[in-house]
Amino acid sequence: MKSIFITGTDTGIGKTVVSTGLCAFLSLHRGMDVGVMKPFESGLAQGDREGGSRDAVLLREVSGSTDALEEINPYTFEAPLAPEVAAETEHRVIDIDSIDRTYRDILGRHDVLVIEGAGGVMVPIKKDFFYVDLIKQWNVPTVIVSRLGLGTINHTLLTSRYLESQGVSIVGVILNDVSNEADIASQTNPGVLKRYLSVPFLGVFPHVARAMEEGINREFFAETFVKNIDTDAILQFL
Ligand SMILES: Nc1ncnc2c1ncn2[C@@H]1O[C@H](COP(=O)(O)OP(=O)(O)OP(=O)(O)O)[C@@H](O)[C@H]1O
Ligand SMILES: [Mg+2]
Repeated sequence: MKSIFITGTDTGIGKTVVSTGLCAFLSLHRGMDVGVMKPFESGLAQGDREGGSRDAVLLREVSGSTDALEEINPYTFEAPLAPEVAAETEHRVIDIDSIDRTYRDILGRHDVLVIEGAGGVMVPIKKDFFYVDLIKQWNVPTVIVSRLGLGTINHTLLTSRYLESQGVSIVGVILNDVSNEADIASQTNPGVLKRYLSVPFLGVFPHVARAMEEGINREFFAETFVKNIDTDAILQFL
């Protein structure tokens, strides 16, 4: 009956990977019934719709949810574009009220609902309605996932300060090691962010290349999550 939103500073920075760790942790280590939602997913060719690379399919599998994919992921677009732009291109209309009803239905079925955004908080969903507006409408505590490496201080502070200015409840920031470069920027990012963030720094999710190749090992993801992330800080919101 609680929900948590996973946003990011950009697309492709590891929201799904971190959500995978969170879902596995909540389900396997905390015994929670975990639901998932990915309201919009873009860039899906027809052949990808049931494929394991699709975020909604991965999240469903790792959470153990048996909800229908159409509920977990009400809108899919072929165009690799923000929902508003993809919908325009494909001549479709996005109905926020219908997504809202689905959200409430799914929420009622689980102990916790993990929702993955797309891109970042200023991605437009429809005219004058951005991801941040969905987060505000649902009043859902939000985790910011950002990329470990050069450039992340700017993106992370912009996202967290903007969400704060909008009155969003921020769980904290997770730096995700997408590229495994171990350069000087990556080494200094956590210290600098701790200095300037006014929200909790939750930890660095490590590079897990082999684990991704081998498919989803729930126990491995749960262990990796609990070892590296401040799970107590997250549980306070659930
Ligand atoms: N910690 C990590 N270790 C290894 N590979 C990673 C890690 N994080 C992300 N990746 C890889 O980087 C790519 C992007 O990650 P992911 O799909 O989680 O990003 P995303 O933020 O969810 O993207 P989108 O905005 O498309 O939903 C994927 O191929 C994923 O396997
Ligand atoms: Mg994703």
